[in-house]
Amino acid sequence: MTYTPPTAPRRTSDERRAEILAAPGFGNHFTDYMAHQRWTVGEGWSSGEVLPYGPLNIEPASAVLHYAQEIFEGLKAFRHADGSVWTFRPDMNALRFQRSAERLALPPLSTEDFIASLEAVVQADEPWVPGGGEKSLYLRPFMFANENFLGVRASHTVDFYTIASPAGDYFPRGVQPLTVWISPDYARAGRGGTGFAKCGGNYASSLEGKNSAVGQGADEVMFLDSETHTFIDELSGMNVFVLHSDGRLVTPQLTGSILPGVTRDSILELAPDHGLTPVEERIDIHRLAEDIASGEVLEMFAAGTAAVINPIGKLASEQGEWTIGDGGSGETTMALRRILTDLQYGRIADDRGWMHRL
Ligand code: COI
Repeated sequence: MTYTPPTAPRRTSDERRAEILAAPGFGNHFTDYMAHQRWTVGEGWSSGEVLPYGPLNIEPASAVLHYAQEIFEGLKAFRHADGSVWTFRPDMNALRFQRSAERLALPPLSTEDFIASLEAVVQADEPWVPGGGEKSLYLRPFMFANENFLGVRASHTVDFYTIASPAGDYFPRGVQPLTVWISPDYARAGRGGTGFAKCGGNYASSLEGKNSAVGQGADEVMFLDSETHTFIDELSGMNVFVLHSDGRLVTPQLTGSILPGVTRDSILELAPDHGLTPVEERIDIHRLAEDIASGEVLEMFAAGTAAVINPIGKLASEQGEWTIGDGGSGETTMALRRILTDLQYGRIADDRGWMHRL
């Protein structure tokens, strides 16, 4: 796939861009360009074009606005000390995008086209990739039904865009221990549903639970399985890990209602190099509360592309509160975060070939 490079000039001045990159936050600012391809039934995917970032011209009848036939991905572009720009395991995101597309009856996009869209945006928006610190350029590929038709069937016209947004810490308080509220009633996804797919609907269904969590003074919400309301699924947009005193690093197994996170997978693979035993199993919330109370659980953390690895200091629910360890940022949690970010920013060798130069 070759992308037509942008012809329009940048919309952002150098001064404004520098101001944004100094303190980007998360998801607040957008770059100058975006990549686009269109799929139409019978014809397949168009060639790629890099367009100025800006409003999409969508009719009110566009199918996505009614039936939420939409999927997305999240990756980051990291600047290394020599100025080169890299992303992390984009083939995994491409594969997940294909699985999400299949579940949402959207057309599959090849891994080659997926990665070409990242390259096209990053090449056009290269000055937007922050240098230094733990900042990055967050890349958000997304695909949606864009046929003006109100019957319930898969759309015959689909748009695929990749936009980019400079990113600092995901959580407004920075990398600080989170308080996580266990949702008493809502689940994020159910058996046979779309939980494993990265579709907007899963995140829409998390929002009221997140609102309640914030209303309880928490930072995040934890969803339990929809059937027994006993086993941990995930947070509003991150997977969960639990470190036990015997060195087991446990994360909920993929049951179909959990997002198979790229960060999740990477932690499981890196864990043995650092004396930890990775375990994927169902985590019973009552047993977890007992293990936290007895001191058997040492640390917990959230993991995702946007959140990286972020400590969890406390769980709270209508039944009570459980402080994990001393409630601070766990040593192993922060060590794993450092290892992952050292790899991503090119500060340690990439033995597994996970980094892809953009
Ligand atoms: C990501 O981690 O990239 C996500 O898509 C999750 C979202 C909460 C930002």
